[in-house]
Amino acid sequence: MNNILIQKSEKFWYKLANYFLRNYRCLIQDPRLFLMGKFARFEIVRDWAAMLLKHPTQSPEISQEHPSILGELDVCAIASTIERDSCYQGLQLPEGVVQELVKFASSTVGYINRDTQRPWRCTGTEQVRVDLPKNARVCSYMSNGKLSSTLKKLEKDPGILAVAAKFLGAEPVHLGSEISWSFPVPAENHVQQRQAAQVFHYDLDDYRFIKFFFYLTDVDMSSGPHTYVSGSHKGKKLLHQVIGTRCADIDDEKLVELYGEQNVVNICGKAGFGFVENPLCFHRGTQPTEKPRLMLQIEYTVNDYGNIHEALGY
Ligand SMILES: [Fe+2]
Repeated sequence: MNNILIQKSEKFWYKLANYFLRNYRCLIQDPRLFLMGKFARFEIVRDWAAMLLKHPTQSPEISQEHPSILGELDVCAIASTIERDSCYQGLQLPEGVVQELVKFASSTVGYINRDTQRPWRCTGTEQVRVDLPKNARVCSYMSNGKLSSTLKKLEKDPGILAVAAKFLGAEPVHLGSEISWSFPVPAENHVQQRQAAQVFHYDLDDYRFIKFFFYLTDVDMSSGPHTYVSGSHKGKKLLHQVIGTRCADIDDEKLVELYGEQNVVNICGKAGFGFVENPLCFHRGTQPTEKPRLMLQIEYTVNDYGNIHEALGY
């Protein structure tokens, strides 16, 4: 019994020391990032930051010379829908682009549970059914995603950049992209669910930031639909602003009760279907129960902080 208590106490002090060390390093190396990590969680601070943002001098435009892969887009309507509802649904990738991205995913090494020690090549849904490595819940292409020329084109697409610029009120900075599989394998505990972003949480990557999502396989209620709580990017309880990304430790049921079950939206769609979200709203990738899901995410921020997740430890 005593040994267990000593181990627990050691673990606690180790975590605390690690927390202060990481914060100290971040403060010394990039005070801007440190301040953002501490204060962007507060709505009032984000509102001030938004007022200070300069509107892009040359807003990206969709034109005949610079068409969007996504076709015609009503940029203002999309941005105002996100501002009100946290998310806009209704983007569509052409079939050819989806096929290119799926082909890329099936021919490139990804990493099981984002662990660089566990490379794996996933050739598709059939292989997932018969030959899935042990405890594999996610397979992410991580930095290998940069090898896709189709993805590179999408990151610079005039339509995507125009929506991002309009929403951000600033020139979009590409923070990162990820292609990843989610498999129908139940997590063993809350930590695993959290690592797979399968619990309600909100992200804190900047004062304003935006994420584009595209399904690359058909997604229904059995294949892990993305879920968000409409309007929850605003008006969070003060405690939930104070604890920031630690909101992921709160039970989903509790958050749904507080922010309204009627506001929970599950997004289903065929391969190619896309949506764009303010990740400050509560959201999660639901655990697939029957079929795997392949999805692409592209994220833009206002400020360029480099590798923020490593520096801030989330
Ligand atoms: Fe997230």
